[in-house]
Amino acid sequence: MFSINENFLKLPGSYLFSEIAARVSAYRKAYPDKEIIRLGIGDVTQPLAPEIIKELHAAVDEMGNSKTFRGYAPDLGYAFLRGAIADQDYRQRGCDISAEEIFISDGAKCDSGNIQEIFGTDNIIAVCDPVYPVYVDTNVMAGRTGDYDPESGTFSGVIYMPCTKENGFVPEFPDRDPDIIYLCVPNNPTGTTLTIDQIQKWVDYANEIGAVIIYDAAYEAYITEDDVPHTIYQCRGARNCAIELRSFSKNAGFTGLRLGFTVVPKDIKAGETSLHSLWARRHGTKYNGAPYIVQRAGLACYTPEGRTQIREQVAYYMRNAGIIKEGLKGAGYEVFGGVNAPYIWLKTPGKMNSWEFFDYLLHKANIVGTPGSGFGPSGEGYFRLTAFGTFENTCKAMDRIRTLG
Ligand code: MLT
Repeated sequence: MFSINENFLKLPGSYLFSEIAARVSAYRKAYPDKEIIRLGIGDVTQPLAPEIIKELHAAVDEMGNSKTFRGYAPDLGYAFLRGAIADQDYRQRGCDISAEEIFISDGAKCDSGNIQEIFGTDNIIAVCDPVYPVYVDTNVMAGRTGDYDPESGTFSGVIYMPCTKENGFVPEFPDRDPDIIYLCVPNNPTGTTLTIDQIQKWVDYANEIGAVIIYDAAYEAYITEDDVPHTIYQCRGARNCAIELRSFSKNAGFTGLRLGFTVVPKDIKAGETSLHSLWARRHGTKYNGAPYIVQRAGLACYTPEGRTQIREQVAYYMRNAGIIKEGLKGAGYEVFGGVNAPYIWLKTPGKMNSWEFFDYLLHKANIVGTPGSGFGPSGEGYFRLTAFGTFENTCKAMDRIRTLG
């Protein structure tokens, strides 16, 4: 008789965005005439940039021609894409990262969930609270987190680093030393960020205690301020302790196309074993490579025209962020984020908790957002809106919120 991985039973409820989708779909069924504006999951709304479409078409045509057809992709990614990334995202920023240290994948969500597989199950993880739920949930599945306490909304074996308005949403070093530290900068969900000096302190701390930082830089394209680093490798010593995750979803609209990459420097070692070799082994065994046509689309993001076009798209979403931020402030809300990130984090009004505010906004204004408590206990009393809607819907949503009074 088979048995199951009982760690899965420790997970409370459903995955956050599945739960939201289920609630929205129930509301839709009950009120089919209502026009719902979705500012919940960070899913893009603008079509792919023309250069990306051009490259996709060209690559599709190659697949229909016996001379240019491609079968399995190299499991770690095509050299043309790994080379462009190493050059433009790292070397041009003065960072010593080679193409061989870049692993192409089908997105940062999968990588952020899978990366824990190369670590021992006795490793202690530290996460910001609130946090992108994938980091914790996947460690729960692996049996690394202890038991869930419904009272506190925490797992006994996880170190939580509260990020609230009281500490400016900046995580503080924990009382006990973790083995793996997850940092997402600019931050999902709070939309806030860390300066290069603050991140340098985390790198120094990780090197001192022998921890690894899993640095999720999915929102790097949204950085507007000069003192925020675009990659953790701008910090001294990061090659010895940091793995960086990147996505094409948010900067270039690949949420439906799927493409991302992970940087694992060869210098991060446990004894004689490099994490690079373990991740390569894992990737080679479990993955057959992102599709050729999608990697070619990714390459288009590194051409001069492609870069310009995707920057315009980021600017489009950041205009929405400004509209949400100002709209909410004008309506009397306390608002954070939205300057270096496409997320706006607000305090729920009065004594409303996060899910109560979710229901209130859905029923009274037909707007979908994300309850802060879904990201962790310190997210209670907060709420997230995304700037990834259309400009028109974003303005409409703010009008609706204004008239709620
Ligand atoms: C979010 O809304 O937090 C993200 O879109 C989720 C994701 O990227 O998987």
